[in-house]
Amino acid sequence: MLDKLVIQGGKRLTGDVRMSGAKNAALPLIAASILSEDGLELENVPDVTDVRTLLKAMERLGAIVEFQAETGKLNLTTSNVRPDEIPYDIVRKMRASVLLMGPLLGRFREAHVYTPGGCAIGARPINEHIHAFQKLGADHRIESGFAILRAPKLRGTQILFDRVTVTGTENAIMAAVMAEGETVIEHAANEPEVVDLCNCLIKMGAKINGVGNSRITIKGVRSLHRISHRVIPDRIEAGTYLMAIAASGGNGTLFAVNPEHLRIPIEKLVEAGVTVIPGKDSISIEAAHGVHPVDVETSPYPGFPTDLQAQFMALMTQAEGVSFVKETIFENRFQHVQELNRLGARLKIDGNRVIIRGGTTLQGAEVMATDLRASASLVIAGLTASGTTNIHHIYHLDRGYHNFEGKLQSLGADIARISE
Ligand code: EPZ
Repeated sequence: MLDKLVIQGGKRLTGDVRMSGAKNAALPLIAASILSEDGLELENVPDVTDVRTLLKAMERLGAIVEFQAETGKLNLTTSNVRPDEIPYDIVRKMRASVLLMGPLLGRFREAHVYTPGGCAIGARPINEHIHAFQKLGADHRIESGFAILRAPKLRGTQILFDRVTVTGTENAIMAAVMAEGETVIEHAANEPEVVDLCNCLIKMGAKINGVGNSRITIKGVRSLHRISHRVIPDRIEAGTYLMAIAASGGNGTLFAVNPEHLRIPIEKLVEAGVTVIPGKDSISIEAAHGVHPVDVETSPYPGFPTDLQAQFMALMTQAEGVSFVKETIFENRFQHVQELNRLGARLKIDGNRVIIRGGTTLQGAEVMATDLRASASLVIAGLTASGTTNIHHIYHLDRGYHNFEGKLQSLGADIARISE
């Protein structure tokens, strides 16, 4: 059933809200459980569609999945896992199922994963992943749409990524932790989610140096064992709520968040005139005096995250003046622009940047969600618009946000989910 969100905009958001575990850390961690024959226990796993989809793929591979959504506790038994096919219907729903390639190769020396197509935000090829696997000794061919990887042996090697790739780095690490000898990965991604994966693998017995740097050294070990690991907080969910509260001219505190993971977005909010007070695991903000225009350019961590670009753009429609948002990671991540303009924003795409003429009072309208973070930007715009906004196809939103409307209601938003 297709749901829509109905928002009566214009309410200031105030209050406290608790963040969930990071979707983009939970996904590689779930995949990493394959590397240990006695499985893995995870805590603080977010109950979002992408996690549910990957758990279905794990069951197809023979894993036993026990997920207590309300507590976030997930127990994975992987003794019966075999490198079976990860079919199109799973990969189509969630391209991050490519994260199964690395651990399947690492434990079984083979993997059969349907090659992911492009998606709304870009072509998103996996050439860097395949190149890393080939350097480790795997041969790769495509057979009726499946990427077939096989390696008689995985041997330590030098992997130099042509460009920073988050899941590419995660896949290379997972394939290398039980390879023979030493692997050095250069130009690695160092997002907090990559660090979280490395920290979990080290607890499982892996030997990894350079965690959090762009040069990672891995000494292969014979096996990994079962441990319990707590998923880090979701910095993108947190950034989304900060921008929603700021756009509404409200104030509030986010709990279960790591401000260290959001230094640049926080700096941009401060530059825009928002008061931000980071705590140990909380962030309080106050935006009663409106926002000034601030320019942003996305880049790999610790730069401004591409996953907060659309949300920031919605905030900048409320700034008094002109601002520029430049997207350098994905080639087609401006799907939200025309939808925001339907709400009365004045955005103009100019190559890989958008010119935002702020100071617009947005008017509620019918809009369509196109991808996960674009949906979040439409919610932020709907919350500030006067009148009613209907956002259709919000299954995109459910992929990465748990109970989005419930958390916003607890902040005073007039928002409801209606089945169409
Ligand atoms: C991860 O995707 C995240 N997903 C994305 O979050 C995030 O936007 C992205 O990193 C960038 O931070 C997960 O972690 C599950 P990339 P990923 O490989 O790993 C190109 C969300 O909203 N590239 O770092 O797929 C690629 O096309 C999602 O939660 C190649 O050309 O992103 C892109 O332009 C959306 N060849 C750029 O690199 C490759 O082999 C960065 O992609 C791999 C990537």
